[in-house]
Amino acid sequence: MSETPAEKRHTLTNRQGHPVYDNQNQRTVGRRGPATLENYQFLEKISHFDRERIPERVVHARGFTSYGFFESYGKWGDEPITNYTRAKVFAEPGKRTDLAARFSTVIGGRDSAETARDPRGFAIKFYTEDGNWDLVGNNLAVFFIRDAIKFPDVIHALKPDPVTFRQEPNRIFDFMSQTPESMHMLVNLFSPRGIPADYRHMQGFGVNTYKWVNQQGDTVLVKYHWMPKQGVKSLTEEDAAKIQAHDLGHASKDLFEAIERGDHPEWELRVQIMSDDEHPELNFDPLDDTKVWPENEFPAKPVGRMVLNRNVDNNFAENEQISFGTGVLVDGLDFSDDKMLVGRTFSYSDTQRYRVGPNYLQLPVNQAKNAEVQTNQRDGLMAYYQDPGGQNPHVNYEPSITGGLAEGDYPTHDEQGPELRGRLTRKQIERTNDYEQAGQRYLLMEQWERDDLVQNLVTNLQQCDRPIQERMVWHLLLCEDELGNRVGEGLGITADDVAGLEPLPKQQLNDEEKLRLKNLG
Ligand code: HEM
Repeated sequence: MSETPAEKRHTLTNRQGHPVYDNQNQRTVGRRGPATLENYQFLEKISHFDRERIPERVVHARGFTSYGFFESYGKWGDEPITNYTRAKVFAEPGKRTDLAARFSTVIGGRDSAETARDPRGFAIKFYTEDGNWDLVGNNLAVFFIRDAIKFPDVIHALKPDPVTFRQEPNRIFDFMSQTPESMHMLVNLFSPRGIPADYRHMQGFGVNTYKWVNQQGDTVLVKYHWMPKQGVKSLTEEDAAKIQAHDLGHASKDLFEAIERGDHPEWELRVQIMSDDEHPELNFDPLDDTKVWPENEFPAKPVGRMVLNRNVDNNFAENEQISFGTGVLVDGLDFSDDKMLVGRTFSYSDTQRYRVGPNYLQLPVNQAKNAEVQTNQRDGLMAYYQDPGGQNPHVNYEPSITGGLAEGDYPTHDEQGPELRGRLTRKQIERTNDYEQAGQRYLLMEQWERDDLVQNLVTNLQQCDRPIQERMVWHLLLCEDELGNRVGEGLGITADDVAGLEPLPKQQLNDEEKLRLKNLG
């Protein structure tokens, strides 16, 4: 590589704008020291370096961000999407919205292997004209738990042991075996889908149930799906081990290089829709994120496509500091009463105020760059921007008759959705039905996928205590006979061995599950 000619090079300075004429030697008394404490240039350099790291994300620490756009199809068949949502992102065919996408693993730290058996994060920030919309999803359609109060526990079980700092199957399956709602997720996670080949070849799912609201204030329940045009590819444990031996970041590398060479990855966004009510006719609750909505009853309708066509310029500024949250919705999109979603919505901005700082929304990657932002928020750690405000710079409050910011027009559709009634309680939802969809998922798999799932479960459960193994076989038998029997066989446990186990405390079995349990032995 040839050296840049001296006349083209800019002079190195410190952050105060002072030129640096020696970046190799600190200032000392005499050539051999001692160093002086007023050594401003050296102290600035080293003390800034000492603060280069911010806390990594408590989950999804390793990830990679790219930019692109979303293009709405505007309609499905002859029906305009505006019949269901007034969100401007979907308004007309061909409408494009800028976005940032961050894909991630969940459990490992910032430098961990991207070949892990782990869900993958699939988070999209749409910079819409009505402000930002974040759709924070995963590559698997369901989740381990359905109530946010259990999130710290499930993550603690999956993270390394607090003493040995190893990820321990015994801790993971100790928790999961006491958490029957996790079975559907486990059947997905331990199948080949649990190690996506890379970020370009994986699906994305909103997982939680959201709402759409139209111009009349009518609401529907929705679930989001992203389908990769590149196809879906996974790794076996063996493939993953080979890659991991020489590369911890193969998925980020693959995505970065594809975008650099102009091979822009693309996903189609599809939406499932249900009327906004409790749907007593279904044997699951539409707000339960451990369930999928059967596609034959609730077809996934294509609504647009996402293309990723630009890499970040700086990983720290744009990947480490980007901050997504499920509360970040725009007009026409809304929350459902899903008990996970409400907990997530608190958690994201809470952690970001700690992880990035109270003014994290002032950072370029997080700004609502396509909308006008005018708040009366002021100051705080690292405050940089001051919103111009109204005509009077003295007024940073509202209401005011002396020229501050004013409220927007009152919407005509302020009331929406069904009326809610209920007494305060701590009970779980009624239709838990924890096993049926897990069993169906197994039956839908091709033979090699079933074999891989059974082998992965057996290999992990072999490292667990006997009572944990037995309870897991009990759950798997309730999901599906063949699955339970095959895993049991691998562990030397028969249905007879576990038939006498009582249901877990607080576990709700429906009639069908009770019958399966009765017929176990
Ligand atoms: C990241 C909390 C469930 C997808 C995070 C972070 C927290 C968190 C604290 C770190 C955010 C940051 O530092 O910027 C929770 C809680 C959950 C939950 C409390 C349940 C109650 C889920 C579910 C999904 C999901 C069900 C998938 C649909 C993600 C993704 C990220 C993330 C994709 C990474 C975002 C990024 O790339 O910056 N979550 N989470 N989480 N979560 Fe969750």
